[in-house]
Formats: sequence, C-alpha cells, structure tokens
Amino acid sequence: MIIEAPIYKEIYGALRIFEVQKVIKLDTETETISNNFLYNIPREKIQNLMRDLAIVVPLKDELLITLDGVLKAIPHKCPIIIVSNSQRESPNHFRQEADLIKHFATLTNSNVMLIHQKDNGLAKAFEKTGYHAILDKDGYIRDGKGEGMIIGLMLSKMIGAKYVGFVDADNYVPGAVNEYVKDYAAGFVMRETPYIMVRLHWRHKPKIIKKKIYFRKWGRVSEVTNKMLNLLLGTITRFETNIIATGNAGEHALSMKLAEHIAFSTGYSVEPYELIYLLEKFTNGKKEKKDAMDIYDKGIDILQIETLNPHFHEEKGQEHIRDMLLSSMSVIYNSALANDELRDIIKRELKNHGVRIKEGDIKQPHVLPSISNIDFNTWKETLLSNTKTLLVFERN
Ligand code: GDP
Ligand code: CO
Repeated sequence: MIIEAPIYKEIYGALRIFEVQKVIKLDTETETISNNFLYNIPREKIQNLMRDLAIVVPLKDELLITLDGVLKAIPHKCPIIIVSNSQRESPNHFRQEADLIKHFATLTNSNVMLIHQKDNGLAKAFEKTGYHAILDKDGYIRDGKGEGMIIGLMLSKMIGAKYVGFVDADNYVPGAVNEYVKDYAAGFVMRETPYIMVRLHWRHKPKIIKKKIYFRKWGRVSEVTNKMLNLLLGTITRFETNIIATGNAGEHALSMKLAEHIAFSTGYSVEPYELIYLLEKFTNGKKEKKDAMDIYDKGIDILQIETLNPHFHEEKGQEHIRDMLLSSMSVIYNSALANDELRDIIKRELKNHGVRIKEGDIKQPHVLPSISNIDFNTWKETLLSNTKTLLVFERN
C-alpha cells in the first residue's frame, strides 16, 4: 500500500496526532520504491501483521446480508470476534446470526468467535473481577456499543491479539471493509511506539439527494464533532488547529497496549471520548504509575488514514443523528479541558442543529474505565465455566 507519509503532526503531552494521510495505492509489492512524501508498505508486511490483528464486530439487529458481507470481506488472517446484542426472542435474531456465522466459519475455515452481550458468564466474569461499571442494576451487562467493545477487547486479549480493530456490522460494501482492515494494518506497520491508534477518515460518505447519489465529504455529526474537538485542542495550547478529522470514526483500531489503558464511554460518544480521555490523562505531565511512565516515554501515535473506498452504511434516521450529536457534544462539554467559551459554542451548535435541551441535560455519558485493573485469568476462567452463548471456531 502506498500512503502519504505522516509529515505534519501536532504534539500534546504524550500524544502525537498526525494529519490525515491519504491512501494512494491500495496494494503494492516489496520492490516499489518510496520517496520522502510517500510511505510504501508492501503487502507482505500487511499480511504478516494481520495475524496479530483481531477484528471486533459489534452487532445489534443488523441485516443478516450486511453481516455476511462484512465477515466475508475481513482478510482471512485476522481472527474475528463478534459481540452481539441482538434480540433473542420473537424472532430470535441471535440464533439466525449464530447459524450464519457457523456456516461462514466452517465454509471458509476461519478463526471466529461469537458471544452474546447478555451472556451470564460475561456478567459473572466482570462482576467477579470488580469491573462493575459495565453492569446494570440487575447485574446484566448494559446495552451499548462501548460495552460490546470492552467485551471484544477482553476476548481479543484472550486469544493473544496484539492489535484490535473495530468494524461495524452495518457496512453495505464488503470491499470497503476489506480495505479498512488493510488500512489498520498499514497504520500499525508505520508505528513508532507500542501505543498507537489508527482512525479512519472517509473519502466520501454518499447520500441520495433528489434521487441522485451525491458523494458528500463530511457526515453532519462528524463535521461538528471535529470542529469542537479542534477548539478543545485550542484551549490547551491557545493555538487553533484543524488537525482532527476523525472525531466520530467508528472504524478505528488500537494496539492492545494502548487499548488496555483507555476508558470508553457509552452511547455514541465512544470515539470522541477516546481522544478526550487520552488528552486529559496524558497531556498534564503527571506520571504516577509505572505503566503511565512508559506511555510518556514512548508516546502515543494517533494516525488518521483517508480510505480509498467511500463509506456506505445503514442510515438510522434523524433521532439517531440527534443522539449521536448530543452524546458527542456532551463528552467535549464536560471535559475538564473545556472552558466556558467553548461550552457556550457547544450550546449554540446544539441549538442550531435543532437539539433543544436544558443545560443540565448535557450530561457526561456513563464511562467504562480501562480494563487494566481486571485480573485477566480470573475473568477468563469465570467466563469459560459459565458461558452459554460463546461459540469458537478455530482454523485447522
Ligand atoms: P453509527 O454507524 O455510528 O451511526 O452507529 P450504528 O448504529 O451503525 O452502530 C455501530 C455498530 O455498533 C453497528 O454494527 C451496530 O450493530 C453496533 N451496535 C449498536 N448498539 C450495540 C450494542 O448495544 N451492543 C453491541 N455489541 N453492538 C451494538
Ligand atoms: Co452505522
């Protein structure tokens, strides 16, 4: 793959945030020469890395046909972990998913894992290891994509993955999914630190407008989220910036070493919150813990890669857009790094987008702390001896 070299970056404490890098050529060979402005990552290196890259697919009541396309498009070397929160009664979507996944795994001889978010074994494993933030008042795992992501992370750790990439199950175009995974791998090959995050930026996000397809550059929510995140960065340094272009990047990947140290919020604010959390935690120069010290020494790289493929996914309506905007704004609004001026701008933006709320409603979404304190062996043993939904297919 040829990617624009990461030339420009902004540094905030331990974080290095790189400017968007475009994919110039999807597939290249070892011999292809690179120059100072382009980075050539031969396909062999991408293939080799994918062995250690688990792909987590959070799933909730999506069309089976899109799920099928997503699974078939993930490169064969990557283990797949599907965390489903789909309904299990009238009709039982989860059963249908399990049938599809079983068929896919045996047909293609792939490494695949499936679990249901409400699996009692999971709830017990988190309960036993003191990770109560993921449980609701009845002791079940809470609903939410962030919750599904934490489960996916733990299962990735269980199979020894060094990297974890997230791919939504509602992607309509399988070829795009295939590229996303390769983009993640290319990002990790370029790494200069063990703590790395790769966030994807869509070249286009097409919409049907007046019966014609229109290749929109920015999603409505992401435009606002990026603007506000950039203003937040401005409050740290007093220099405005436009470096962030992936505030709502659902498709993103992390090295396990970074993933273990990051907190996730619930609702639709997971992706902007990851950035805010890292900024809050690693720009103030505090080095209390030994592992935090290593992060300060080596630094965190945040790469933003612009895909070649456009992004087509299931459109979930106006209410969904509103929720996404409100929760994304809430994490910025409630950040300790925000000032009153930025909070006023956020209130105005919400109003301009027709989100009418009282000030007290811009609440910080529920936060799931990092998994670094979970005793992993206890978690694993508790899960394995109590699970009723875990399906594991191993490549022979
Ligand atoms: P958007 O793409 O950010 O607008 O949000 P989506 O509604 O498409 O959700 C992103 C992904 O998360 C999709 O694959 C959903 O099926 C999945 N998802 C949504 N809610 C949940 C949940 O509660 N648990 C899990 N495990 N996945 C979820
Ligand atoms: Co979607």
